[in-house]
Amino acid sequence: MKEFTLLVRRASDAAAVGGDPIPRTSVARSFPSQTARHGASVERAVDVLISSRGHASPARLERACAVLRQHAPLHWVERPGVRPFWAVTRYADIVAMETRSGEFAAGPRTYLASEASEAVLQRVTGKPQLVRSLTEMDPPDHGVYRAIIQGAFAPPALREMEVWLSQWAAEIVDRMAARGGRSDFAADVAMPFTFRVIGRMLGTPEADDIRLARLAQAFVGAEDPQRRLAETPGDTMRMAMLALRDYFEALVADRRAHPRDDLATLIANAMPHGEAMPHYELISYFILLVTAGHDTTALALAGGLEALLAEPEQMARLRGQPELLDAAIEEMLRWTTPVRHFMRTALCDTEVGGRPIRAGDALALFFHSANRDEAVFADAGAFRIDRSPNPHIAFGRGPHICMGLQLARMQMRALFAELLRQTERIELAGRVRRVQSQFMSGVSTLPVRIVFRGSHNAAAESGLSASP
Ligand code: HEM
Repeated sequence: MKEFTLLVRRASDAAAVGGDPIPRTSVARSFPSQTARHGASVERAVDVLISSRGHASPARLERACAVLRQHAPLHWVERPGVRPFWAVTRYADIVAMETRSGEFAAGPRTYLASEASEAVLQRVTGKPQLVRSLTEMDPPDHGVYRAIIQGAFAPPALREMEVWLSQWAAEIVDRMAARGGRSDFAADVAMPFTFRVIGRMLGTPEADDIRLARLAQAFVGAEDPQRRLAETPGDTMRMAMLALRDYFEALVADRRAHPRDDLATLIANAMPHGEAMPHYELISYFILLVTAGHDTTALALAGGLEALLAEPEQMARLRGQPELLDAAIEEMLRWTTPVRHFMRTALCDTEVGGRPIRAGDALALFFHSANRDEAVFADAGAFRIDRSPNPHIAFGRGPHICMGLQLARMQMRALFAELLRQTERIELAGRVRRVQSQFMSGVSTLPVRIVFRGSHNAAAESGLSASP
């Protein structure tokens, strides 16, 4: 268990991965033919795209992505304190890199981070990353590690899950009604709803959900003032990691001694390449699941509801035609794109979209921008619940495509179906807040007032009329 202890002990010496705001001063070397006439606006757009605050400001982000897609879709970025990389913003280029996995590797540079963070991690751990799990892995490890839990996401397991999910969705909406029709949908509904799903799969008790969710959110959103556990992002990461490590070490020990029918048992006892999983990868696996497994879906749920509240005619249409729910969910996924980027590294000299890429070049793939690409999505800046086709890449593409994509869709379907069934009307009742992170972002505070149907009708408490 030494390796992981060493890893986290010094992480606060400098801000950890994802922890530093990236310096805003620009010394970018433009890609001449693309940016000659638009240099200044392209550089301003890059500043927005790679800053955590930029992702908490949808209108600015949209404008920045549009500038880059139009004038510099593959843009070489140089900023003090960050190793240079290509910012990739067009759909076709991102899909090409995701699917040409023989030419573009997921590791060792998987997320945008400052050089200071990377240097500390290298010095302390000898490893370039804070964790090493599926998202950081390439062949031969990636396929072997992915296979360990694949069965839990296969159709038979999901069918069993679907029945329970409907009951859980009904229960969480009941709890909302019991609070009198007022709640923060993001924090009080979406987060607990999605965390229990991954908690149930892992085999952790419901009593631990709030604590684990808080740690997981701090881990991926250490730059966000509301998610911080300590003064600095670096200390936040360190605290979250230590606590998660201790929790999952105990869970592993328990499941080795007392195996059960859950994911924790599968991971704790897995023998990738015929041997027990190394400690670093073992703890990383759990951290991946508690982060990827709930925050993403909760952000899609809250952002999806926010979009419906902003477009009352779309909400009315969905209430009138519930058969549009599946298409609406795809549009919510496109619209929110909770995972904002992943990085790839070129394994050989190659080209993308006719532009040369050198072996060793790093590329940041901005999924949110791809999902607003007018070349693929007509009227891309409009939220349309009947959009068809809708080939969004909110779940990525290629060998790393999200393992939980069907599960996430099922969760969204179950909760929205229940909301539509039990509620007469939903209104925005306060200021919306968004996560400040260039890795995972979306709506984190969504105050709502709800009028329920029938026995749940809380109109009296909420002061709303129950008109359609
Ligand atoms: C709306 C919800 C979700 C979104 C938007 C989302 C998005 C993503 C994205 C973009 C990736 C990387 C894909 C790539 O590199 O091409 C990913 C990977 C992953 N996701 Fe999700 N995800 C969601 C929900 C979930 C859930 C519910 C789980 C599990 C319980 C999950 C588990 C994973 C895992 C294990 C990976 C790593 C796959 C690999 O690298 O092989 N995700 N997800």
